[in-house]
Amino acid sequence: MIVDGRPYRTVWMEGATVRMINQLLLPHFFEIVDLPDHHATATAIRDMWVRGAGAIGATAGYGMAQVVLEAPGDAGFQAYIKQGTATLTGTRPTAQDLFYATNKVLAAVEGAASVAAARQAAIETAQAIADENAAAGEAIGKYGAPLLPDGTRMLTHCNAGWLAFVDWGSALAPVYAAKRQGRSIFVYADETRPRSQGARLTAWELVNEGIDHAIVADNAAGFLMQRGEIDLVIVGTDRIAANGDVANKIGTYEKAVVAHELGIPFYVTTPTSTVDPNCPDGDHVPIEERSPDEVLYSYGLLDSGEMGRVRLAPLQSTARNVAFDVTPARYITSIITEQGIFEPQNILDALR
Ligand code: MRU
Repeated sequence: MIVDGRPYRTVWMEGATVRMINQLLLPHFFEIVDLPDHHATATAIRDMWVRGAGAIGATAGYGMAQVVLEAPGDAGFQAYIKQGTATLTGTRPTAQDLFYATNKVLAAVEGAASVAAARQAAIETAQAIADENAAAGEAIGKYGAPLLPDGTRMLTHCNAGWLAFVDWGSALAPVYAAKRQGRSIFVYADETRPRSQGARLTAWELVNEGIDHAIVADNAAGFLMQRGEIDLVIVGTDRIAANGDVANKIGTYEKAVVAHELGIPFYVTTPTSTVDPNCPDGDHVPIEERSPDEVLYSYGLLDSGEMGRVRLAPLQSTARNVAFDVTPARYITSIITEQGIFEPQNILDALR
C-alpha cells in the first residue's frame, strides 16, 4: 500500500518491536505505533488498533516472536511461551488466522535444537507468515479481477482491504487489480456499525487508491440491490468452516440472503490460512461479543479536532454487540483464494 507516496505494510517488526498503523485513528490521523513487548501487541489486537483476520494473524505471529525473544533462556523457557501464547490467543476468538499464526510459530519453536535456534525460527516464521499474507492478497486480486468488467458496481461490507491484511487485502484486492488493468469500478461501502470499518477504513483506502465510491448506511444495501444498482457483492471472512459456511462481520449474512433472493453473485475472498478444517460448520465458529459501549456510543473526530465518542442511546439502555455472523455456504457463489476459485462446499480442496 502507498500512503502519502510511501510504501507501507499494515504491521511489521523491527528488532524486537512490532510496529503498526494505528487503525483507531484512521481516517483522520495516520500514526505508526511501536509495541515493545507481546503484552502491548496483545492489547493492540484486543483493542483493535489492528483488526481484520489477516492483519490479526500477522500481528499474532510477530507477537509470538516477541514471546520467544523475551522468554528466559533457562528452565522457565517453555512456561513463558505457554503463558505468552495464551495471552495472544485470548485476544479475539473468531479470526482463524490468529490461531493459524500462533500454531505455526509454536511448531517452528518446538522443532528447534536450542534456545538460540528457537528465537531465530520464531522471527523467521513470523516474517514468513506476514510475507505469505501479502502475497496471498496479490494473488486473490489476480484471480478476482476478471470478475469485474469495466463499470462494475460492487458492494462490500466491513473492511477487507490492505488494512485487514498485511497488504492488498481480500475483497478489495480484485478492485485494486482491475484498476491497475485500466478498468473503472464503483464501490458501495457499507458503513458497518458499530465500529464503522466501512465508513472509516474502506473509504480511506478507496480515497488513497483513487476509486469512486459511496458509503451507504448498513440498512441501504438491500434497497440498492433490489433497484438493480449493485452488480455483485464481494466480502472477506474471518473463518471458513469445512462445509463452506463463512463467518464474517455482523451484517454479512443478511446481505448474502438478499443477494441470493435477487440472483446477484455473492463472492467471498480469503487466503487459505482462514480456512479451519477442524471446524465442521458455521454453528461451531466461536462468535465474538464485544462491549455494549461500541453500540451505545459512536467514535470519531470531534469538532474540537480530537478523537472521542458521543453517546447515541438513552443512559438507561443496554445493548448487545455481536461482532460476527455466519453465512451458510448455499448463499455463496464461490470463494476466491490465492490457490484459485472454489465452490464453497469444496473449500477444503484449496488446502490440498
Ligand atoms: O472486527 P474486525 O474489524 O476485525 O472484523 C473484520 C472483518 O470482519 C473483515 O470483514 C474480515 O476480517 C475479512 S478481511 C480479513
